Amino acid sequence: MNKFYITTPIYYVNDKPHIGHAYTTIAADVIARWHRLKGEDVFFLTGTDEHGEKVETSAKKAGKLPKEFVDNIVGAYKYIWEKLNIKYDYFIRTSDSSHVKVVSEIIKKIAENGDIYKGYYEGWYCVSDESFWTELQLVDGKCPSCGREVKKVKEETYFFKLSKYQNKLIDFYNKNQKFLSPNFRSKEIINRVNDGLKDVSITRTTVKWAVPFPLDGSHYVYVWVDALCNYISAINWPHGPEFKEYWPADIHLIGKEINWFHSVIWPAMLFSAGIEPPKMVFAHGWWTVDGKKMSKSLDNFVDPILMVDKYSTDAFRYSLIREMPLGDDGDFSEKAIVSRLNNELVAELGNLINRVLTMAERFEGKIEGEAELDQKLNIGKIDSLMEDVDTFNALNEIFVFIKATNKYISEKEPWRLQGRELSNVLYNLLEASRIISILVYPFMPNTGAKIANQLGIEVGTIDDCTFREWTSKVKKGELLFKKFIQ
Ligand code: MSP
Repeated sequence: MNKFYITTPIYYVNDKPHIGHAYTTIAADVIARWHRLKGEDVFFLTGTDEHGEKVETSAKKAGKLPKEFVDNIVGAYKYIWEKLNIKYDYFIRTSDSSHVKVVSEIIKKIAENGDIYKGYYEGWYCVSDESFWTELQLVDGKCPSCGREVKKVKEETYFFKLSKYQNKLIDFYNKNQKFLSPNFRSKEIINRVNDGLKDVSITRTTVKWAVPFPLDGSHYVYVWVDALCNYISAINWPHGPEFKEYWPADIHLIGKEINWFHSVIWPAMLFSAGIEPPKMVFAHGWWTVDGKKMSKSLDNFVDPILMVDKYSTDAFRYSLIREMPLGDDGDFSEKAIVSRLNNELVAELGNLINRVLTMAERFEGKIEGEAELDQKLNIGKIDSLMEDVDTFNALNEIFVFIKATNKYISEKEPWRLQGRELSNVLYNLLEASRIISILVYPFMPNTGAKIANQLGIEVGTIDDCTFREWTSKVKKGELLFKKFIQ
């Protein structure tokens, strides 16, 4: 059986989750569910990044101890993932003692390989991104990634010899063309690595809400080094059966702003520790809201819970995936959700299933016919798009089939037919609906299950997406979607 290991970033617990976090996790869930429907042994990991200066400061502001503070926000993440129907296999927290132990062991391995040395760091630090910057990298004196204030850091530190891995990384990218995905983002990383790599500071002395540095009691591990290790601590590196089974990860799905950590620093750490790198880092684009970047000052963070309560989990999941290709940036607006809900989910999918069930309800048992609509279904194309992490085009292709099925009804006018002709059309419509229940399931699990239920069957697998015999008895239930009226 093929294994499939997919991860999301582990999210900082300084604040409540917003649509950006929801997007990555929904996309990963869609991909994981697709692979499960292919019968693969899937491991889907998400979790929280709990250490570091940002969380330490937020806890202080809230008048709480860091552990007490993070426990609270972890609850908000778990709640939201349940609301969004996210079926992860494991939730990692970097404050877990098993994770802390792995971070320590990895650092010892890297040190044994001669890749850690003591030095002095002087430069700038962005607390929000937990990232170090040189004077030259700053834009108008601010963080080049998030645009926030940076602060001067001058401290003794231990460095990781990232510079040593320049050639090895370039060689690795060349041999593994899918590692840097999507392809159009790879150039930026390759150019920067070719320009030369600076060793990175991996310890801090001033931040104490962190993993203790195993080589020196007065230092603490830099939060990014700690966080990246989650991908292997969660599967019990080095001796756990899960590590042997699932590593290397098939996809680390992340947002584009943390590509450098995942595509450069992480594989170099793994090279140094003698561990195989993941197969793919897919850096997706960013959402703006009504044309603007989400920020505290604009107070325009979109709360996924509100969206779900207003439009339903499936309409929200569907709208995010349908709006833009996974690699691109996009703009979020409630108007777009309403329009997709009313014009696509209600008018195309909901209407189709409702019409088919209304017609088929009078019939029982075997309905005979010859497959005709199978011509309109390109399951090979949909699967290969999903294998390429192209959830956007895969979903479009699924809707091509849904539209073709609707068109088939208007062309055949089954209400005018009788006998064998009617049975033939019904057979095609029922088989198409059964296949649609499978295809939409990874994107909209409630809807896929509801369609199957009304058809009197279970949601099938990708192998079941071919036209077969129809023998079930349908029973119309509640409408799949309700029109949203403002
Ligand atoms: N803790 C680090 C990740 C460590 S992974 C080893 C971190 N956390 S975060 O809470 O800031 O989450 C960042 C991730 O949230 C992004 O990589 C992306 O997946 C998602 N998004 C946050 N804002 C986003 C948008 N505006 N748009 C799309 N996704 C964004 O970084």
